[in-house]
Amino acid sequence: MIDEGFDFIIIGSGIAGLYTALLAREVGNVLILTKGSIDECNTKYAQGGIAAPIGRDDSPEIHFEDTIAAGAGLCDPEAVRILVNEASDRIADLIEIGVPFDTQDGEVALAREAAHSRSRILHAGGDATGKQIEVTLSKAARVAPNITIMEHCLATEIIVRDGIAQGVIAFDSRAGSIEEFHAPIIILTTGGAGRLFKLTTNPDIATGDGVALAYRAGAEITDMEFFQFHPTALRLPGVPPFLISEAVRGEGGVLRNVEGHRFMHHYTPEADLARRDIVARSIVAEMRKTGSDRVFLDVTHLPRQTITTRFPHIYRFCLKHGLDITRGLIPVAPAAHYMMGGVKTNTRGETNISGLFACGEVACTGVHGANRLASNSLMEVLVFSKRIIETFGGKETVRDKKAVEERHFTLRKYDTSRITTPLRLAILQSLMWDNAGIIRSRDKLEEAALVLAAWYERLQKPTDRPYYELCNMVLVGRLLIEAALIREESRGAHFRSDFPEPSSGWEKHIIFRNTP
Ligand code: FAD
Ligand code: SIN
Repeated sequence: MIDEGFDFIIIGSGIAGLYTALLAREVGNVLILTKGSIDECNTKYAQGGIAAPIGRDDSPEIHFEDTIAAGAGLCDPEAVRILVNEASDRIADLIEIGVPFDTQDGEVALAREAAHSRSRILHAGGDATGKQIEVTLSKAARVAPNITIMEHCLATEIIVRDGIAQGVIAFDSRAGSIEEFHAPIIILTTGGAGRLFKLTTNPDIATGDGVALAYRAGAEITDMEFFQFHPTALRLPGVPPFLISEAVRGEGGVLRNVEGHRFMHHYTPEADLARRDIVARSIVAEMRKTGSDRVFLDVTHLPRQTITTRFPHIYRFCLKHGLDITRGLIPVAPAAHYMMGGVKTNTRGETNISGLFACGEVACTGVHGANRLASNSLMEVLVFSKRIIETFGGKETVRDKKAVEERHFTLRKYDTSRITTPLRLAILQSLMWDNAGIIRSRDKLEEAALVLAAWYERLQKPTDRPYYELCNMVLVGRLLIEAALIREESRGAHFRSDFPEPSSGWEKHIIFRNTP
């Protein structure tokens, strides 16, 4: 066991964990605990890029307006203001660390993505932005002084005494042992929860562990009903739902139904470049109309060289599976992609538990509201990681004022005696996809809530990584479904067929907190 007086324990090694560690090591000793190898994370798969308002025709104000519009009334304007104002400095930091952003005519190249009114997406390696970032940061973290990295160590509990976070209990999945680590500052950077759903763009690590850990420790969890479904994941038999970046439509790609007709203009004036939630629901409606499980993304009208140089990763992946996208249509359908909700933080990453911070996809800073604008996630990580560490350099740590009203809840109790459904990962994922996916309704949500409550009551003590993760997913699934039941309206990514319109009475955040 290594427990050598760390100042920071960071749980996770995606962009949030690594970038925070590189900043934190300048003020103290850092331990990174990560449940797989260092580069197993969502970050590695990011394609489109990072949004920053640095173009000549752009400004933080325009980026602010686009982000607020996408968030459907639930963004925290203060958090968004911070995001857009600090974005260009954080890009400069990444360039200094060595991230090789693509350039055009000697300047950083800026791409367009849906619902951004300007071209403001920086990318690297064409569509391999996340991989370039992850590799650069992990190389830097491995050689940096003051950083200890423990791979294959799954955090299972945050130790809280007298309302103060004191350490972490972890399961070393190689040794099969339980370890305990102590530090005055614990930073959760455990990423999202896409694996809750049958179809997802997320890798295996995205099991919502951080939300479960934080909830069990007494932290506030908010906005869990808002889960983003990406409109275009590859839909080929036997092939995982590999992401086909929104930047493909930004570059001129268009959606067609199975009969070959364009359809997005029937649903919204912004057509193929509408907000992500609108495009995902329109695709579902079109698939239902045509009795198909897919639509097509067409880039065959674009110059071959544009496709192969701008999207080399997508091009090669499809080619490996027998599809030359320069000549043939790409079969696509929506898939679970990004968790907007999470552990509630203020704009310095603090949770309601002293000493416990959260950053990245696990956190809910208020930037995304009910629907994240593409490519704002990686930027959110950079901006709020920096603000967490600045706090220890003497920056003010005040609780932010509530920008939007909040409503507090605990998980409901159910009579689960009749439920006999066995708990298996595939059954959980299908249940979440069918009952709490893109289109929701009270009946379906209640059915799933009951099954999840039964599973939750009957959980055993975990002894291996898959079962730890499954337990976390059951809890996170419950938080998501309960929030989705409570929110009797449709807003952003949360759509209820029984309440299809937004309600002004629901411009509020739903917050869960575990009460003993
Ligand atoms: P992650 O990168 O997921 O890292 C989480 C880390 O925590 C991992 O190392 C994991 O192993 C570790 N971990 C989890 N649980 C535990 C535990 N219990 N104990 C120890 N370690 C644990 N966003 C954009 O802004 N632009 C894009 O172009 C973009 N494209 C995307 C494409 C895809 C296919 C996907 C899936 C996401 C994309 N996103 C994009 C979203 C973005 O990549 C993520 O939101 C972001 O990378 C999250 O970073 P993170 O560090 O918070 O989490
Ligand atoms: C994409 O490239 O479409 C994903 C971008 C994102 O999720 O921000």
